[in-house]
Amino acid sequence: MRHVYLNNAATTWPKPPEVSDAVYKFMTLAGANASRGSASERDLRSLDILFTARERAAKMFGGYEKAAPQYVTLTQNVTHSMNVVLKGFLKEGMRVLTTSVEHNSVIRPLRELEARGVHVGIMQCSLRGFLAPETLEEALRERADLVVMTHCSNVCGSVQPIEEAAHICAKRGVPLVLDCAQTAGILEINAGALGVAALCFTGHKGLLGPQGTGGIVWKPEFAEECAPLLEGGTGSLSHEETQPSLMPDKFEAGTQNLPGVAGLDAAFEYIEKRTAAAIAEKENELGRRLEEGLLSIEGMRLTGPLYDEAPRLPVYSFNIDGIDNGLLARDLSERYGVEGRPGLHCSPLAHKTLGTFPQGALRLSPGCFNTKEEIDYTVDAIKELAKNR
Ligand SMILES: Cc1ncc(COP(=O)(O)O)c(C=O)c1O
Repeated sequence: MRHVYLNNAATTWPKPPEVSDAVYKFMTLAGANASRGSASERDLRSLDILFTARERAAKMFGGYEKAAPQYVTLTQNVTHSMNVVLKGFLKEGMRVLTTSVEHNSVIRPLRELEARGVHVGIMQCSLRGFLAPETLEEALRERADLVVMTHCSNVCGSVQPIEEAAHICAKRGVPLVLDCAQTAGILEINAGALGVAALCFTGHKGLLGPQGTGGIVWKPEFAEECAPLLEGGTGSLSHEETQPSLMPDKFEAGTQNLPGVAGLDAAFEYIEKRTAAAIAEKENELGRRLEEGLLSIEGMRLTGPLYDEAPRLPVYSFNIDGIDNGLLARDLSERYGVEGRPGLHCSPLAHKTLGTFPQGALRLSPGCFNTKEEIDYTVDAIKELAKNR
């Protein structure tokens, strides 16, 4: 049976061979802990990997000029990044605004903070998954301390108007935090130019790196206002019993996922060479083909915008009349070897917004290593399953 992987919104697969080679090389040839040895050749190589990964992240996401690369924090994933930022900044009595299409990586830390006295406002997005700038303007008529929003929905692929959002937040002097889980490595983002307080990314999706990697690109002044989530060893200022305030050590207590960072560094290099624009072009071409194919299926109920209507990435969630999306996913996988993801995609609020709660939807998300033939094969497979329902 053929095997078609269309679950790249969950994690990209396959990874470029350079990424697994870098992880393997680190494990077999380097493998020293960073800043916790005798400054041997191996120690320095580990430090070097951390340094270049930070530098590449700052370059890719437009880190603040005077800050890069020490104002890049390396984390385990975007969920970790969000917890660092939200719990580091928000205190009892503060008001935070977010959108109704967020992933639980944003919503759950906010609900936890709500229980500690933070006021959480959810801004309603449209049925197609967009936050209207006017909705943000309206919500900001009342005092707010922070806005946090996703750049692209992991359910329906809608790409939010972050330039306008950044402009509105800047006018009101409210820091803006972005969840770039679905866009990092695909869409150009310049955190410094937009004035974003913290850009959070995960390494294993569009960046094509290993799981267990991610990060934050900080605006320096904002990083200074945040308290660390964890305290512990940093390999620096070891005479002090309190957490250093020096960056990047402030937010990086404990040994880093160094093999993962080696892979992430190689992934950044791969994207630099291939370019995010070329990756986006390939993915959007596949997305348009998938969109056209899905729309030709009887009983199709697609969420999110069409390519010709509004900005989107190729993350498609849908239901077909009369078929349970979980059973459709199972049949597609077992009978045709096509991997997608059914259900709620860790985003119950987004599904409520899109009208697909509680049943969820089947999500198909092509990546830069898929082919047109795979898309056509998948559409034909869904057509057959829909016909025989
Ligand atoms: C928009 C969005 N935010 C956050 C996450 C969480 O990513 P991670 O599990 O890497 O922390 C995802 C992953 O599905 C996502 O799509």
